[in-house]
Amino acid sequence: MRVWAVANQKGGVGKTTTAVSLGALLARAGCRTLLVDLDPHGSLTAYFGRDPEAAGASVYGLFVPPGEQGAADPRGLAVPVAPEGLALWRASTAMATLDRQLGAREGMGLVLRRALAAVADRYDYALLDCPPMLGILMVNALAACERLIVPVQTEHLALKGLERMERTLAMVGRSRRAPLPWVIVPTLHDRRTRAGAQALEALRARYGPRVWRGVIPVDTRFREASRAGRALPEIAPMARGSQAYAALLEDLLAGRGQAPGAPAQMKEARA
Ligand SMILES: Nc1ncnc2c1ncn2[C@@H]1O[C@H](COP(=O)(O)OP(=O)(O)O)[C@@H](O)[C@H]1O
Ligand SMILES: [Mg+2]
Repeated sequence: MRVWAVANQKGGVGKTTTAVSLGALLARAGCRTLLVDLDPHGSLTAYFGRDPEAAGASVYGLFVPPGEQGAADPRGLAVPVAPEGLALWRASTAMATLDRQLGAREGMGLVLRRALAAVADRYDYALLDCPPMLGILMVNALAACERLIVPVQTEHLALKGLERMERTLAMVGRSRRAPLPWVIVPTLHDRRTRAGAQALEALRARYGPRVWRGVIPVDTRFREASRAGRALPEIAPMARGSQAYAALLEDLLAGRGQAPGAPAQMKEARA
């Protein structure tokens, strides 16, 4: 099982949309895929029509010692969601209390990694949708994944969240055995606005080969899909947004997440 995390210490940049879209595309390609909602707000959970306020097994239970009330067995946590082949580990709002409860306790950084290992035979991919704040859940995600996708909205202030993310990666990197490859994915890109074009340019100038060669455009159909509780690539594979995520997935699978040698022309064409 391959584990990819989607993270950025900023909300509203398209993390959940990226997890849902890539998850649906992987499932449609025949890969058994697990989506893991690590955000106490539970937007991924709510996306698929489940209530993060509801009682019941959730990612929270993985952090409760086995045998204690509320503990969850990773092998019993998944619920199927659409399309076929996609499963979800839901979040619960109680996850917001984890940092206060466990923050200082030793050895809590590998909880998710161990839980995922217990289901590694069941899935080809796991996608971790991270909360926008640094805490025990994000630390667990960064310890459990082998690749990180950082959606960045192409607007001026977005670069701030990215700087925070870089500091986090530097910190986490020291405790990881293997380095963590990460790729920046420009999201919510509006090519018609000057601000959008400038932000994209600034992103590429500053982070160069770390930035994926394409962009995820603004596509109002994402909102439509989220209202329907379905992934856009599932209900409208030809939509601009779906096509962009398909191109991203293709590059990720081909190990072309970053494109150091991509000719400028090609970048332009894709943008
Ligand atoms: N490419 C896009 N085009 C248009 N709307 C988008 C796009 N990506 C995300 N959105 C919308 O923007 C909002 C925030 O996206 P979301 O994926 O929830 O961000 P995050 O998980 O980073 O907080 C949602 O309403 C979502 O539907
Ligand atoms: Mg989200």
